[in-house]
Amino acid sequence: MKLLVTGGAGFIGSAFVRVTLAERPDVHIVTLDKLTYAGNLENLAPVDDHPRHRFVHGDICDSSLVASILEEAGSDAIVHFAAESHVDRSILSPDPFIETNIRGTATLLDAARRAKLGRFLLVSTDEVYGDIDAPLEADETFPLKPSSPYAASKAAADLLALSYVRTFKLPVVVTRASNNYGPYQFPEKLIPLMISNAIEGLPLPVYGDGMQIRDWLYVEDHCRGILSVLEHGSDGEIYNIGGNRALTNREVIKRVLEIVEAPETLMTTVADRPGHDRRYALASEKLARATGFTPQMTFETGLGRTVAWYREHADWTRRIKSGEYREYYNRNYGSRDSAVPAAAVK
Ligand code: NAD
Ligand code: TYD
Repeated sequence: MKLLVTGGAGFIGSAFVRVTLAERPDVHIVTLDKLTYAGNLENLAPVDDHPRHRFVHGDICDSSLVASILEEAGSDAIVHFAAESHVDRSILSPDPFIETNIRGTATLLDAARRAKLGRFLLVSTDEVYGDIDAPLEADETFPLKPSSPYAASKAAADLLALSYVRTFKLPVVVTRASNNYGPYQFPEKLIPLMISNAIEGLPLPVYGDGMQIRDWLYVEDHCRGILSVLEHGSDGEIYNIGGNRALTNREVIKRVLEIVEAPETLMTTVADRPGHDRRYALASEKLARATGFTPQMTFETGLGRTVAWYREHADWTRRIKSGEYREYYNRNYGSRDSAVPAAAVK
């Protein structure tokens, strides 16, 4: 099988490339990535010179580039990860989210239709469902109620992709996963930010009361879930991929501090994120029934491995933190006053 993987220099896409090349000896991959602030060729260093992998630097919005790759590589399927992926950045500047997540997905869908591709897998997110009141869990029929420009742009991409099933008979499958964590995650997301700040002894910024709930999925489990849908999913279907591990942000941060052996006094309450979703919760039985896949990694082991990876790859984090990251960090956190001392909300 020949795959075009978009966004394969990012966190999850690069894990997918590494896992797939290692576990599927018959798969050839072309990775297409624009190398935005979040794309990093160091993430693909473990597969440098791999005989079944080729990297193309480019934009998914470039329709002639996408068409020429599909034609030259003779791709059987697209696995589409490329996106602007961070909620806080979508609040600061929504435009790149509209461009890449909606326009870029539309460009790929159209190219896939023209090339009569055998499968188009869109990697989506549980954020399209928005807040879920306890004790409910969202299954794949749950209404879409995205809260942030990021989530809305992903929901638009989902709907566009599903319209191509009905109108053009394009064999699309959509996966909606919960929050990922693991090695190589850009240190703007909760877990890598907290690990890297804790290692450096910097304050850990907790939005609002820190009692928001996320369901955590180890990145390699996510990739294996995607492979199971690629291989066994049915055309036109949506599959949730949850991690079966719901925790409040405070619980997550406290575990990070324990593993890093840093003091809890580093936790600093800052102004909440506008439109902040309180709780995500996914029902993933459909995936288990259809493909037999369930996540294998426990949160304790996964978090331990992740912290160990960030300790061993201090240079990777240092290079990221010395670039555009500084400017983003000041924009996002500079205006968030420390409203309440951490001790008052423990
Ligand atoms: P990421 O930000 O780490 O990586 C995104 C990658 O896409 C980067 O390599 C970037 O260079 C590339 N990219 C961005 N715009 C592009 C463009 N126009 N053309 C080509 N490449 C472009 O993101 P991630 O966390 O790895 O997320 C990957 C996908 O998984 C996204 O679609 C995201 O919505 C989805 N997802 C993420 C999570 C999560 O917890 N991170 C959970 C569920 C779903
Ligand atoms: P994030 O990793 O941005 O993922 P998402 O918003 O897509 O779920 O954030 C996860 C949770 O952590 C979310 O409730 C926001 C919170 N958070 C903080 O409290 N402080 C931070 O500095 C960041 C980045 C996130």
